[in-house]
Amino acid sequence: MNNAVVFVFFELLLVIATFKSSFCSGSTYVGCVESEREALLMFKKDVNDTSNRLASWDIDGGGGDCCKWVGVVCNYLTGHVLELHLRNPQKSPMAGFEAYERSMLVGFGGIISNQLGSLSNLQYLDLGSNALEGPIPEEIQNLTCLRYLDLAKNFFDSSVPTWWGNFSRLEYLSLSHNGFLQGKISRSFGRLCNLRTISLSNLNFNQEISEVLDIFSGCVSNGLESLDLSKSQFSGKLSDQLERFKNLRSLVLSYNSISGPIPWSLRELLSLTHLDLSRNKLEGPIPPSLGDLPALKYLDLSRNKLNGSLPSLGKLSSLTYLDLYNNELSGPIPLSFGELSSLDYVDVSLNKLNGTLSEIHFVNLTRLKFFDASENSLILKVNLDWIPPFQLESLYMGSCHLGPQFPSWIYSQKVLSELDISNSGIVGTIPSRFWIFSSQFILLNFSHNQFHGEIPNLIETTFRASLDFSSNNFSGPLPRVSHNVISLDFSNNAFSGPIFQFLCDERNESKGMSILNLRNNFLSGELPDCWMSWGSLGALYLDNNKFTGNIPISMGTLSGLELLHLRENSLTGTIHASLGNCTELVALSLDENEFAGNIPTWIGERFSRMMILSLRSNKFHGPLPLELCHLDSLHILDLALNNLSGTIPRCFSNFSAMVTVDYSNGNHIYHSADFTIGITEDASLVMKGTRLEFKNTLNLVRIIDLSDNNFFGEIPIEMMNLKALQSLNLSHNFLIGRIPESIGAMRSLESIDFSANQLSGEIPRSFSELNFLSYLNLSDNNLTGKIPSGTQLQSLDASSYAGNDLCGLPLPKKCSVSAVPEPDHEIGGDKTGDEHEVIWFSVSIVLGFVVGFWSLIGPLIVNKRWRYRYSLFLDHLINKLRAVF
Ligand SMILES: *[C@@H]1O[C@H](CO)[C@@H](O)[C@H](O)[C@H]1NC(C)=O
Ligand SMILES: *[C@@H]1O[C@H](CO)[C@@H](O)[C@H](O)[C@H]1NC(C)=O
Ligand SMILES: *[C@@H]1O[C@H](CO)[C@@H](O)[C@H](O)[C@H]1NC(C)=O
Ligand SMILES: *[C@@H]1O[C@H](CO)[C@@H](O)[C@H](O)[C@H]1NC(C)=O
Ligand SMILES: *[C@@H]1O[C@H](CO)[C@@H](O)[C@H](O)[C@H]1NC(C)=O
Ligand SMILES: *[C@@H]1O[C@H](CO)[C@@H](O)[C@H](O)[C@H]1NC(C)=O
Ligand SMILES: *[C@@H]1O[C@H](CO)[C@@H](O)[C@H](O)[C@H]1NC(C)=O
Ligand SMILES: *[C@@H]1O[C@H](CO)[C@@H](O)[C@H](O)[C@H]1NC(C)=O
Ligand SMILES: *[C@@H]1O[C@H](CO)[C@@H](O)[C@H](O)[C@H]1NC(C)=O
Repeated sequence: MNNAVVFVFFELLLVIATFKSSFCSGSTYVGCVESEREALLMFKKDVNDTSNRLASWDIDGGGGDCCKWVGVVCNYLTGHVLELHLRNPQKSPMAGFEAYERSMLVGFGGIISNQLGSLSNLQYLDLGSNALEGPIPEEIQNLTCLRYLDLAKNFFDSSVPTWWGNFSRLEYLSLSHNGFLQGKISRSFGRLCNLRTISLSNLNFNQEISEVLDIFSGCVSNGLESLDLSKSQFSGKLSDQLERFKNLRSLVLSYNSISGPIPWSLRELLSLTHLDLSRNKLEGPIPPSLGDLPALKYLDLSRNKLNGSLPSLGKLSSLTYLDLYNNELSGPIPLSFGELSSLDYVDVSLNKLNGTLSEIHFVNLTRLKFFDASENSLILKVNLDWIPPFQLESLYMGSCHLGPQFPSWIYSQKVLSELDISNSGIVGTIPSRFWIFSSQFILLNFSHNQFHGEIPNLIETTFRASLDFSSNNFSGPLPRVSHNVISLDFSNNAFSGPIFQFLCDERNESKGMSILNLRNNFLSGELPDCWMSWGSLGALYLDNNKFTGNIPISMGTLSGLELLHLRENSLTGTIHASLGNCTELVALSLDENEFAGNIPTWIGERFSRMMILSLRSNKFHGPLPLELCHLDSLHILDLALNNLSGTIPRCFSNFSAMVTVDYSNGNHIYHSADFTIGITEDASLVMKGTRLEFKNTLNLVRIIDLSDNNFFGEIPIEMMNLKALQSLNLSHNFLIGRIPESIGAMRSLESIDFSANQLSGEIPRSFSELNFLSYLNLSDNNLTGKIPSGTQLQSLDASSYAGNDLCGLPLPKKCSVSAVPEPDHEIGGDKTGDEHEVIWFSVSIVLGFVVGFWSLIGPLIVNKRWRYRYSLFLDHLINKLRAVF
């Protein structure tokens, strides 16, 4: 009974609705219109519907009535299709990419188009989040009854259509997220006088924003409520045309290249609730008129170049979200900030704000949950017994001045889970009361303060937490930490004693930690053999402590380890073969320990991702294994200050990362005269979602340092192939022969040190092609002749050439004319060329065998002194032969 009444009422409404839109749906009811059913069936045939969403679209489906098919809405009386809801039912790929992908309708826009055009009464078309490609179907322009058109998140390409002029009823238009769609917003968009929502984000436009605003500022601007033009490569300046969009509620222009100031005329947009101008190049001040927008709830101006002081925003009583991160705003935060009683999220970090924050700044912020004021010069001055009106979840105040006392008001924050009070001038111990809290945190950053005293065991942490206590003066033994900690930084403190308690857990519980930094402390004793439960480690810094003993075998179980830093300890023994199981290693630094033995062959075979290999200053001996040359990602090879011997392998030319210049992760060339110690600490790596930031970009640095060893033989010509190498140090070895003539091919060289060898002959002319060369040391060799002219070579200090028999600038010794070689001098000079050639050829073959044989023997001589003498002899022999011809 009741149902029937409702039904009749409903019918009545429909009749009225149909009457109102009769212009677009004229005919009388005949069920599903045959031609439209055909069109829908054709449409279905043209798309691939893997998940069978369109199963009901069938001749017999719904008793043949297409109005009963899924996603189809008809005019109940006329049978014309009014609406097509064909959006992917899976909302986002985030929820599960496979399900999303399976639910996509796949097809080519050009084919579909033929059918769509005949649905002449269509008012609503939603094809969002499918995989339709090709140009936007031409026939859509026949659908002049459309009110709602959503083609977002497909793969439409070619040009954006210019035929919008006839869509006088269109209220909603979205073409967003079709990254291959190009072109411009044309004048025809300006005739869409009924538009309320325009969404044109993530497209490939390349247009001045003022031109776009000009197009929309006609009849479109009257009714427009939402305009989203983000991530579509708009540039140029905002114009005062914005003031015409009187009904705008949401304006999103983020992620473009819009420059110039924010126009004051924004104050005319009295309905604006959502304003996002982030990630542009806006400059100048934040107009105080923004503070007069009565409805504003969401304001994001982050990542621009806005400067000047913060205006008073105190009247924005609805403002919940305020993001001014990463601008150049200066001066104090106005007191009226405390009146923004709806604020929930505030980020003013990375600006130049200064002055004092007091209780007044927070007085009415009862809803505040997220507050980030870090990287400014703000001072927080509140009473010791201050009880804030808010309950924060996240507080970031790094680089704000909070100290010298520990901010005890933090105890009042019962749901705080992220706390960064790094570099905030706090002195003293962490109050024991604080540790009662500690289990609730996912981030604690106490770094760069002057905390001292011991840290209690932190085994209660219940969430996956990052803890940073670095650069303080904490002492005592390392506290044990919960297996939930994923990143722990205790570096630059005064922790001491063995790490057995910390590392070896009687429960043998598996740890979730991926970054452990214990660098620069006074930890001592042997490294315990307890790494089995630390299998999540990706980065391990134990450098600059007082560890002794061998590398424990269980380190080989760290199969995901990418960075291993053990330098500056007193570790001994050989590099144990178990380390070869850490096949993901990208950086291995064992510098400044007492490791001994040969360099294992498996280093070259197992570490295919290795970029930094630093064994500097140990007691490694023996020749370099040729397998080392398999490390074709190597950027830094530092073997200096060992007892290594043999010749420099010719296959060093296989280090392909040192051959090609690939600046894909940054385009500035690393400029530092000092290419020696400390470079590995300045590396930057992204690993498994965690980014390890250091001062310089590893990608740009390429170094070989073999200095202070016992290498002999010649500098291999093949090495000159390393065109991206920036620093080459071969000094203090027993190298003989000439500097390869082709050294000029190593165009990236900035620093060369060949000093204290027995190199002979002349300095190759091609040296003058090394345009970046700023450091050169050729001293204490047996070089002769004239220093080639070339600005770099003459501008260097004379000491670069000392201890040789060289002449010419910058040395005081002038070259006598005879010292200059005659390049054109020909052997044998007269007409009996044939005879000479035959003799020359046979002699050179014989001598080639002799020299080749002798040089093979060289590396076999074990005694260092004899080997050295032998290399001198060989050098002498070669020189004699040269003199003969
Ligand atoms: C539909 O799928 C079939 C088989 O998987 C394939 O051959 C065809 O090219 C697909 N059509 C489109 C438009 O992707
Ligand atoms: C689209 O409209 C044009 C002209 O108005 C007409 O010639 C054409 O047949 C229409 N296409 C379809 C599929 O209805
Ligand atoms: C669009 O409108 C123009 C005039 O404004 C008209 O000449 C043209 O036929 C219309 N096209 C369609 C497909 O209705
Ligand atoms: C803001 O930056 C502009 C240049 O972009 C400069 O001319 C102006 O002086 C700056 N204002 C302040 C207050 O720093
Ligand atoms: C701020 O809070 C006080 C009471 O704590 C109230 O009297 C005052 O009206 C509030 N001001 C605003 C702007 O909300
Ligand atoms: C803030 O910085 C400006 C200039 O950068 C300076 O003139 C002013 O004195 C500073 N104010 C405070 C409170 O430090
Ligand atoms: C802690 O703060 C310092 C500087 O304030 C920053 O460099 C470091 O990355 C922060 N640590 C974590 C774990 O966020
Ligand atoms: C290294 O790997 C080999 C073979 O996969 C395995 O037998 C050995 O136990 C591993 N060593 C360590 C220390 O994990
Ligand atoms: C240096 O060269 C000269 C002449 O070329 C040669 O007589 C001398 O033996 C060489 N000295 C050494 C240490 O190689």
